[in-house]
Amino acid sequence: MAIKTPPVKPPRPAALDLLREKAQRAEEGGGRERVERQHGEGKLTARERVTLLLDEGSFEELDKLVEHRCQDFGMADQKIPGDGVVSGYGKIDGRLVYVFAQDFTVFGGSLSETNARKICKVMDLAMKMGAPIVGLNDSGGARIQEGVASLGGYADIFLRNTLASGVIPQISAIMGPCAGGAVYSPAITDFNVMVKDTSYMFVTGPDVIKTVTHEEVSKEELGGAMTHNSRSGVAHFAVDDDRACLALIRELLSYLPANNLDEPPVRRTEDPPDREEAALDELIPAEPNKPYDMKRLIEAVADDRRFLEVHPHFAANIVIGFARFGARSVGVVANQPAVLAGCLDIDASVKGARFVRFCDAFNIPLVIFEDVPGFLPGTAQEFGGIIRHGAKLLYAFAEATVPKITVITRKAYGGAYCVMASKHIRTDLNYAYPTAEIAVMGPEGAVNVLYRRELARSADADRRRAQKTAEFREKFANPYVAADRGFVDEVIEPRHTRRKIVAGLEMTRDKRDKNPSKKHGNIPL
Ligand code: HXC
Repeated sequence: MAIKTPPVKPPRPAALDLLREKAQRAEEGGGRERVERQHGEGKLTARERVTLLLDEGSFEELDKLVEHRCQDFGMADQKIPGDGVVSGYGKIDGRLVYVFAQDFTVFGGSLSETNARKICKVMDLAMKMGAPIVGLNDSGGARIQEGVASLGGYADIFLRNTLASGVIPQISAIMGPCAGGAVYSPAITDFNVMVKDTSYMFVTGPDVIKTVTHEEVSKEELGGAMTHNSRSGVAHFAVDDDRACLALIRELLSYLPANNLDEPPVRRTEDPPDREEAALDELIPAEPNKPYDMKRLIEAVADDRRFLEVHPHFAANIVIGFARFGARSVGVVANQPAVLAGCLDIDASVKGARFVRFCDAFNIPLVIFEDVPGFLPGTAQEFGGIIRHGAKLLYAFAEATVPKITVITRKAYGGAYCVMASKHIRTDLNYAYPTAEIAVMGPEGAVNVLYRRELARSADADRRRAQKTAEFREKFANPYVAADRGFVDEVIEPRHTRRKIVAGLEMTRDKRDKNPSKKHGNIPL
């Protein structure tokens, strides 16, 4: 006998009206005046940002009707559904992502207890489903009326940022104020994008600084996009406006897997894997101290000559970023001879190390282009702790178990030779150009150490020094001693670089390597 189901009653129009009215109130945010003010400042609203970030029509909002519970300071009468943050999920290039966007038009996008819960909910979902989370920050910070309930909300977010680190990619955009302890959520995430002129980040603002230290500094100078991109290194990208910011996040995600158990996405290309680049044979100058632009090499060999540089304004003596070789994402780390002769200093070491660890956490192979005369000498570097900071880069390359391919284009001197993904720290393929110089130090320095007394006594010191320098260069400043030992797998013609890297990535595709079991290592922080 068929079971009869009761007929479904259509919802009463009044119930639908109530839903529609609530949804509309949420969508209006803080009202027309505040939206106009937001636009007047060159900023988009939270909803406009989410719409632009995600594939068209893919946004599914959650908690649209959440309201705060605060009864104090007249807040009981001021409720706006959504409570200052728009959150949910959608797609970027057809792939799932979670998103939250603080709505500055509602209580200045400030973080209430309920607003924090909304953010935590999408973070928890992102972790459970293994998909990236993007946070669009534009907020006056902790909701002042809610006191410790708001601070607790921040701490709840920080905990989730920490637990998600290395599990799912976390991307923060700073698209307005981000001050006080609120900065520590973006700080833990993997990449920070800042919008020029409209965003700023600081722990204590100009007024507090003036009171405490009597320093006068503007908001922009203290914590604007270029300050954090070029001086502090807190931010990885500076963009001109909101649209550029959202487009950049889409591009960045195109290189990343959804989580640490996933493989990076494959993007098909017409660029032949064996494309030869004859110009590369001439790129490295014959004079060992003449600079050249390493980015020209990276662009010449990557798929479609496309390189998404990360952190371009900070520690430009090392270049990091994403490219594809044979349709596969890789993380590129390269010394830049055009800046500080490519020396490693504190900032370059820290910049490189965090990027290497990101790539390693997310199964993104590493391709290293090396031209490094050593660590930058000087008291500023030594007093600043170049020993412990330089160790970060060494540690990061050594612990990385993803495929690693190094190409030495010119100098690989001293400790920096070991650090820059040398064969000895588990690099799978080490190539060198015929122009490579691999030695304990440069010929001039070596001759000064080895022959100082002899040269001091010599009546013909200059000629003798030149002769010894030439001898040293002949003996050590080449790739063949390292190739003879097997520390370099092959000395290659520069024009073949792309082919070698693509083949190497193919060969290492199913690489299995792991570190000893431990709770975690103790990287020198
Ligand atoms: C509640 C806030 C708010 C906040 C802003 N608003 N910040 N409401 N809590 N933290 C409200 C304002 O009252 C105003 O409401 C609206 O948002 C817009 O703010 P305006 O001041 O008009 O905007 P603007 O002139 O652009 O100035 C933006 C601002 C300023 C610089 C961010 O609002 C500001 O200084 N806010 C306080 C910042 C702060 O000190 N936050 C605490 C940081 S410490 P109406 O109704 O007029 O539109 C912190 C700790 C985190 O966050 C701890 C983590 C561990």
